[in-house]
Amino acid sequence: MRRLLVTGGAGFIGSDFVHYVMEHTDDYVTVLDKLTYAGNARSLDGLDPQRFRLVIGDICDAPLVDRLFAEHDAVVHYAAESHNDNSLTGPEPFVATNVVGTFTLLEAARRSGIRYHHISTDEVYGDLELDDPERFTEQTPYNPSSPYSSTKAGSDLLVRAWVRSFGVAATISNCSNNYGPRQHVEKFIPRQITNVIDGIRPRLYGDGRNVRDWIHADDHSSAVLAILDRGVIGETYLIGADGEKSNREVVEIILRAMDQPTDAYDLVTDRPGHDKRYAIDWTKIRDELGWEPRYRHFESGIADTIAWYRANEEWWRPQKASTEAKYELTGQ
Ligand code: NAD
Ligand code: DAU
Repeated sequence: MRRLLVTGGAGFIGSDFVHYVMEHTDDYVTVLDKLTYAGNARSLDGLDPQRFRLVIGDICDAPLVDRLFAEHDAVVHYAAESHNDNSLTGPEPFVATNVVGTFTLLEAARRSGIRYHHISTDEVYGDLELDDPERFTEQTPYNPSSPYSSTKAGSDLLVRAWVRSFGVAATISNCSNNYGPRQHVEKFIPRQITNVIDGIRPRLYGDGRNVRDWIHADDHSSAVLAILDRGVIGETYLIGADGEKSNREVVEIILRAMDQPTDAYDLVTDRPGHDKRYAIDWTKIRDELGWEPRYRHFESGIADTIAWYRANEEWWRPQKASTEAKYELTGQ
């Protein structure tokens, strides 16, 4: 039985990974999570206490991290400040958690020799033109745009340096935009679904033509498990699922699935520095690790996600009003 430490496991993707590991392996899982506004212990409800525990704490707390690393075989590092809009209004916690937090984990990994997997984002590569035939590959130069993506890029570079200089046994993955259950209502898809439930028209930034490359969170989780099991130390793997869609297309799919007219949305103030398009070439992880995404039908994945938000209002309702109040301040 492998002992896995998952940082940020009470967040959206981290909790998906924890559920995925509990279902598909016999690993023991410890979550280390600070439970910021984005963390929700309820996302971990129902897990077998014989194989799971939650430790509430900060990844910047070096003595705590040292203790936990000594008790585990591998760490998967999801914990982060993750929302671009927040990074534009208050970047400080992004530097603290994403850069200093990752540094703290790497130093502890260096001391303990633990296997380390680093979760990152396609945003480190900057953006592509809407009509560019290219997609991001593992060779694309880093060119981040926002405070969020620059702190993620910085954390990736720290990992690469700690592998090369100190022999830390690390891998990195950079994934595209995830969707699925238990995502905070500040993010695009849950925000629009819960807006429609509340009778508010969805809000599209700018002209709504920006493109994101969507992947179901379970596919991200299966890819991370494949890297943990079969990935080569020091390597980076891009994770995607050929899910490119403009924000307009996504909102129209949500509106159609919720029996609303497909033009019942508003265009609002654009995000400063808004990346135009992300697109992932996932050939390497397919050819080298034999991984493939399972959720290939976006409309049915969105229908399931809508059903989850309808059935789990008590999970998201406490965050909704304060999230919308923040958006009101920026005219979004
Ligand atoms: P999230 O905001 O939903 O969750 C982040 C979690 O980290 C929360 O539970 C929070 O409490 C915890 N956390 C924050 N600061 C912490 C600290 N100092 N110590 C301990 N825990 C702390 O984020 P998410 O969307 O699940 O993203 C998780 C990871 O995946 C991030 O590293 C993000 O960069 C990466 N990523 C996200 C996406 C996406 O589409 N959401 C895509 C690619 C990569
Ligand atoms: O690409 C991976 C990244 O995807 C992750 O690294 C980030 O953690 C994650 O938050 C996500 O970043 P984005 O900025 O792409 O996601 P967000 O959900 O904030 O926005 C998706 C798109 O929708 C983006 O073009 C902005 C737009 N948008 C967003 C909101 C909240 C709107 O048009 N209206 C909105 O209300």
